Formats: sequence, structure tokens, C-alpha cells
Amino acid sequence: MADNTDEYAAQDQRIRERLDRIGRKIMIMSGKGGVGKTTVTVNLANALVDMGCRVGVLDTDLHGPNVAVMFGCKDAKLFSDDGATFIPIEPRKGLKVMSLAFALEDPDAPVIWRGTLKNSAIRQFIGDVDWGELDYLLIDTPPGTGDEQLTVCQTIPELTGSIIVTTPQEVAVLDARRSVNFSRKLGVAIIGVIENMSGLVCPHCGKEIPLFGKGGGRKMCQDMHVPFLGAIPMEVGLPEAEDSGVAWVEQAGHPSADALKAIANEINSGTACSTARDTSFLGTPSCRPSACASCTSDCPSRKK
Ligand SMILES: Nc1ncnc2c1ncn2[C@@H]1O[C@H](COP(=O)(O)OP(=O)(O)OP(=O)(O)O)[C@@H](O)[C@H]1O
Ligand SMILES: [Mg+2]
Repeated sequence: MADNTDEYAAQDQRIRERLDRIGRKIMIMSGKGGVGKTTVTVNLANALVDMGCRVGVLDTDLHGPNVAVMFGCKDAKLFSDDGATFIPIEPRKGLKVMSLAFALEDPDAPVIWRGTLKNSAIRQFIGDVDWGELDYLLIDTPPGTGDEQLTVCQTIPELTGSIIVTTPQEVAVLDARRSVNFSRKLGVAIIGVIENMSGLVCPHCGKEIPLFGKGGGRKMCQDMHVPFLGAIPMEVGLPEAEDSGVAWVEQAGHPSADALKAIANEINSGTACSTARDTSFLGTPSCRPSACASCTSDCPSRKK
């Protein structure tokens, strides 16, 4: 027992040391599955690297680790020089990725783990990985507000904030509201909400079809007083690009790529307006005044 406690404390120390060398730590979450968290994570990462940032991506979706495919490195395998510290996979210069996918012998094998195992895997992914100096650590999560999100928040108490992804559809927005309240209850600042799949761009005429509706995410932000980061339309071609590991955000002439780039730019330039960390559950969020011009939230400082 003493050994376990000592090992836990030693790992805590390693986690602190790793995190001290990383700038912004951002958790990407959603209430509903399949709304585009991994798409947002991967594209923001590529866009930030294009801007010259050093970016790490931590995949905490242990049951469905998809970032490896989307970064085009699904066959990469974890490597360790000393048997204790893992070297993250670098699909491109400036980008480091850690995912359970790199440790699985059989990509078809299900990962059947309870909370404690997930907790220790995520702690290992932070403390026992040679992340080095990073400007950003983007943390992709599975849907919901469960073990993985809780472990991330508890292991990284200085989390810069959460980005919540939703589609405009009512059921997705309902679940996204839970993610907002999860962040508030855990004292995590909300960087903002992204409305993904916000209209389908017709590949023939270029007009938008409101497949999942439109504006549901933006409206939720107004209702709940949280910043709105932007809307990303659905586009034919994006899923195929992701399956083949092509950086969609770098493809020209696509409204969804432009929207993702604009969001990355807003986050990196510091104009993204986040709610304060200590937002009380029912209180009014406070915003950085410099961000008020672009913020869509309904807070008192913006109304001035
Ligand atoms: N804007 C978009 N246009 C077209 N396809 C999209 C868009 N966003 C996401 N997709 C596609 O929708 C599917 C789900 O996206 P993604 O895997 O990013 O969601 P997720 O929220 O991470 O899912 P999960 O909850 O399973 O982790 C993928 O096939 C992806 O390629
Ligand atoms: Mg995902």
C-alpha cells in the first residue's frame, strides 16, 4: 500500500512537471456523441501548428480512439527509450499526439475498462509521456460527462478551459447544456461553444441545407451566458479527408475549413472570450473587456 501511495505521489510529481512546460490546456467535450469533437480537435491542432504553435493532442477517448486516423498516423506504435517514458507520435513538425490507438496490437479489439483503469491510463498519458515544451495541449474526450472528463479536470486543475461542441439539433443542444453545467460545477472556464454541422453545403449548388437545423448552439450560448466560438457547416469531402489523414483545415475553398481556421485564430490571438473559472453556477460570467466586441454572450459588460 505504501508503495502504491509513493508511486501515486511520484506520478503526481511527474504530471506537475510535464504540465508546467505546457501553455494552454484545453478540453474538447460534448454531451452527445458524433457531433464533431475529434474533428474540431484535429483541425484546431493543425491550424494552430500552421500558425507556428507547438501543439500536443491527448486522446482520452479510450474506447474509440480516432485521432490517430485523422492525423494520418494510425499505424504508428508507441516507443520508449527507457521503458518508463513514452515518446509521443509526431505526425508533423510541431505536433505531438498521444492515443491508446498507438498501443493497441489489434485495432479491432474492444477496450473493456472501468473507471479506475481509465483514470490511471489518462494520468499515464500525461505524466509518463515526453510532451516537452508546448504552447497548447488539446484534449479530445468521449461524449458525456463521465470518468474521462472528471479525470482530466482533476489531473489538470489549471485547465485553461473547455470547448463544447454541439450540433444545432435540439437533442444535441440539450446534452451540450449538461457539458456547460459540468464545466461550471468543476470550476472549469468555458472558452466557448462551437456549433458544428451547422447546415450542409450542397456540393452541386453551394446552397446550405439546414439538415440539423441552424442556430441552436448560438441560442444556447445566449441563454446560458457562455461565449459562442463559431458555426462550422457540414461539407461533403470532410469525412473522406479525415479517413485518409488529410488536414482538412488546410484545404482551400471550403467554408468549414475557413470556419475552423477562424476559430483557431480567435483562440490563439486571445480574442476568444471565456467565462471566468470561478463562475458561480447561476451567476453572470465575467468576460475580458478586450473580447467584448466579438463575443455573442449576453453579459452586462458587453451591453455597455
Ligand atoms: N462539419 C462536418 N462536415 C462533414 N462531416 C463532419 C463534420 N464534422 C464531423 N463530421 C463527420 O461526422 C462524424 C463524427 O465526427 P467526429 O468523429 O469528429 O465526432 P465526435 O464527436 O468526436 O464523435 P465521438 O462522440 O464518437 O467521439 C465523422 O465521420 C466526421 O468525419
Ligand atoms: Mg471523437
